Amino acid sequence: MTERRLLLLNGPNLNLLGTRQPEVYGSTTLAEIEAKVAEVAKDAGLQVRAVQSNHEGVLVDAIHAARTECVGIIINPAAYSHTSVAIADALRSVGLPVAEVHLSNIHAREEFRHHSYVSAVADMVVAGAGPLGYEMAVQFLADRLGP
Ligand code: DQA
Repeated sequence: MTERRLLLLNGPNLNLLGTRQPEVYGSTTLAEIEAKVAEVAKDAGLQVRAVQSNHEGVLVDAIHAARTECVGIIINPAAYSHTSVAIADALRSVGLPVAEVHLSNIHAREEFRHHSYVSAVADMVVAGAGPLGYEMAVQFLADRLGP
């Protein structure tokens, strides 16, 4: 059986999870989130490629690579959610199912966080569920992709 892989993509400043504004983002580290996602995905028969970058172009390149190497994308675009047409267009270009995750409830925060360019491309959006949101995203994609 060929391996099926999800791309888990995290944007700028998420490498600092655990110590970054824990009152907003919690105390779970990115490494812990990546390990949990891999575990939940494995139970669903899926591998995970985890990429974090603080650079927009690197995120775009990772999305392009996923076109032929992955079957779905979980993305927390972080601040680029609110600014990046390039990331939204890249997601649009690859034609894979997309789950958008935000640890915090962006709709309950500052006005500029209420709009995400990625949401128009995403098949599902979860915001405010903390690290559990990533697990929900895996479950959604596993269900969407089927056995
Ligand atoms: C975030 C919300 C964004 O507004 C913010 O810029 C982030 C993280 C979240 O996970 O809640 O960096 O995407």
